[in-house]
Amino acid sequence: MAKIIGGVGTSHVPSIGAAIDHGKTQEPYWKPLFDGAAVLRRWIDEVKPDVVIVVYNDHASRFGLDLTPTFALGTGTSFAPHDEGYGPRPVPVCKGDPELAWHIAESLVLRDEFDVTMVNEMTVDHGLTVPLSLAFGRPAEWPCRVIPLCVNVIQYPQPTGRRCLRLGQALRRAIESYPKDTRVAIFGTGGMSHQLQGERAGLINAAYDKKWLDELAANPDRVANTSHLELLTEAGSEGLEIIMWLLMRGALSAEVRQVHRFYHVPASNSAYGLLLLEDA
Ligand code: DHB
Ligand code: FE
Repeated sequence: MAKIIGGVGTSHVPSIGAAIDHGKTQEPYWKPLFDGAAVLRRWIDEVKPDVVIVVYNDHASRFGLDLTPTFALGTGTSFAPHDEGYGPRPVPVCKGDPELAWHIAESLVLRDEFDVTMVNEMTVDHGLTVPLSLAFGRPAEWPCRVIPLCVNVIQYPQPTGRRCLRLGQALRRAIESYPKDTRVAIFGTGGMSHQLQGERAGLINAAYDKKWLDELAANPDRVANTSHLELLTEAGSEGLEIIMWLLMRGALSAEVRQVHRFYHVPASNSAYGLLLLEDA
């Protein structure tokens, strides 16, 4: 049977990817961040997932205002990095796991009535590739299969945190009913506080981020009830990305063990957060 071996919450700031790609991780600006995040590489190397499900948002790369699925599941065989304006990142193409992805789609739609969009042809932007680089460095091939689960956190009306938590719980049921022995890790990406535009551009709210990190593991139901207005006010317009961590949290057991937690400012315009959780 398939098994969830843990959850990762991590920001996906694009310049973290650029620092990795250009060999800048030991420069004074970046070293503290990469030192703190190194535990993710050690952990993933120990737990060795067969499949990583990356819950991320697309930043008007594959999807745009012409087509905005609320939840889009990558059911295809491969997912190439998207050209975001400066060429695609020099990272491997992700190999998918169509068999597991279609099983998840079936379970989500027919058993739990979550009408996800199935996407066979999907390119992936920094929202997905930066977390993979943080976890695996710069390998010639990603060492596991990747299933993208894209959430609309960009275009109003975005799904609620509660909906994300419940989708995570349904995702757990889907994975646990998959008959093959497959070790699955779930990544929730994005956040933490940041605002890239308007009068409040550059906003960071460390006190709010830390409260979120305190509560996500122990009190997911409470965190899931946070209104979008509160998130926009406290964590900035792009801080809303953090609802994707709730999807990861929902896929874990009710009680969880915190393996690691790290918080660092600045990472470009964002606060960087990392949380490693395992079923208790
Ligand atoms: C930044 C952060 C993001 O999450 C993103 O998608 C783009 C930019 C930043 O901090 O620069
Ligand atoms: Fe983002």
